[in-house]
Amino acid sequence: MNTLLVTGGAGFIGSNFVLDWISETGSTIVNLDKLTYAGNLNNLLSLKGDARHVFVQGDIADRPLVRQLLAQHRPAAIVNFAAESHVDRSIHAPGEFIQANVVGVYALLEEARAYWNGLDGTAQNAFRFLHVSTDEVYGTLGPDDPAFTEQTAYAPNSPYAASKASADHLLRAYHHTYGLPTLTTNCSNNYGPYQYPEKLIPLMICNALQGKPLPVYGDGNQIRDWLYVGDHCAAIRNVLAKGKAGETYNIGGCSEKTNMEVIQTLCKLLDELVPGSSHCPHSSLITHVTDRPGHDRRYAIDARKIERELGWRPKADFTGGLRRTVQWYLEHQAWVEKVNSGAYRKWMAQQYGEAPTMRRLLK
Ligand code: NAD
Ligand code: DAU
Repeated sequence: MNTLLVTGGAGFIGSNFVLDWISETGSTIVNLDKLTYAGNLNNLLSLKGDARHVFVQGDIADRPLVRQLLAQHRPAAIVNFAAESHVDRSIHAPGEFIQANVVGVYALLEEARAYWNGLDGTAQNAFRFLHVSTDEVYGTLGPDDPAFTEQTAYAPNSPYAASKASADHLLRAYHHTYGLPTLTTNCSNNYGPYQYPEKLIPLMICNALQGKPLPVYGDGNQIRDWLYVGDHCAAIRNVLAKGKAGETYNIGGCSEKTNMEVIQTLCKLLDELVPGSSHCPHSSLITHVTDRPGHDRRYAIDARKIERELGWRPKADFTGGLRRTVQWYLEHQAWVEKVNSGAYRKWMAQQYGEAPTMRRLLK
């Protein structure tokens, strides 16, 4: 394949994908990213001066800009990572999620459709619009429910999940109505390098290293299905290469853990990897706080379709992937310090209160 237009490629998964794609295929990526608080060009420093990475700061909802990029670079596919992605933020400010995740995706689809209509037959057949979505569109599972399949009915519970579900429906409609060759992937929780430390795993690592409380929402027995980000990137490469237009593919880690299991494992890893720390045992920092409103109890992905049809399955085991992730954060403290800006501190104060008092601390 030739040039790709990637959106949101300066965020966590997007930047991992850009690095992975260029190293695996050697072909060019045009990376359109608005650089919100979550976008970080430091993730892509290793591509500085590399002509295969063309970065453009801009919004997917900016239709003239998207039109111009499509006309200029003639991409063989669009991969859309751009989104507001944090559930807690969607509870505080849902409007930004509707704008980026619904209006933005609509704008991108409209420009993609016009571009695709203008391609010749061979290029039209080869073109793909891959939209990166989430397992949260399926809602929540009980302890004994089977994992989400591609047939599970949508039942989004947070404003974030509802905005992602809306975009998925638009993808479906653009394929059904206009024949646009869409692909949708619904993935479980990712972890790994370059994840913004508002999300569970990097937040716990960063707080623990500073001796700050590790805020566990509610009882901490909520379950997520954890996937190493490198495995997600490989899955997207597979879907782009071999996925059938109009289909959706669930992507998961086969690795269900409660939040308490994740946090306890992280604490043990930190005890081992930072043995001289005055914060050992790091588990003493665990602090139960008020639960997230509408908190989904359990997610689990049935990834048999992508394994059966495209031959993808996750490679990383959870303990190994988590160890690599902790080591990455330990070795990239300068990256963490740069992220730790006014915007990050403002979010932490709004969400958790000033440590160590923590407004949300349970009595
Ligand atoms: P992220 O928040 O780290 O990055 C999002 C990126 O999108 C940022 O670089 C941001 O600047 C950019 N962006 C936001 N709005 C934009 C707009 N209007 N125009 C252009 N760029 C914009 O998110 P992430 O965790 O890397 O997630 C990437 C995608 O994968 C999202 O669509 C998310 O819903 C989905 N997803 C994430 C996970 C996960 O565990 N993180 C799991 C499944 C699916
Ligand atoms: O399932 C895929 C989704 O995973 C993605 O679509 C989202 O973009 C991504 O943010 C993630 O959503 P979650 O809400 O599952 O991730 P988060 O890291 O915010 O939280 C994971 C779990 O940890 C969840 O049960 C809430 C809990 N949690 C989170 C934070 C930030 C805590 O207990 N304490 C915290 O401080």
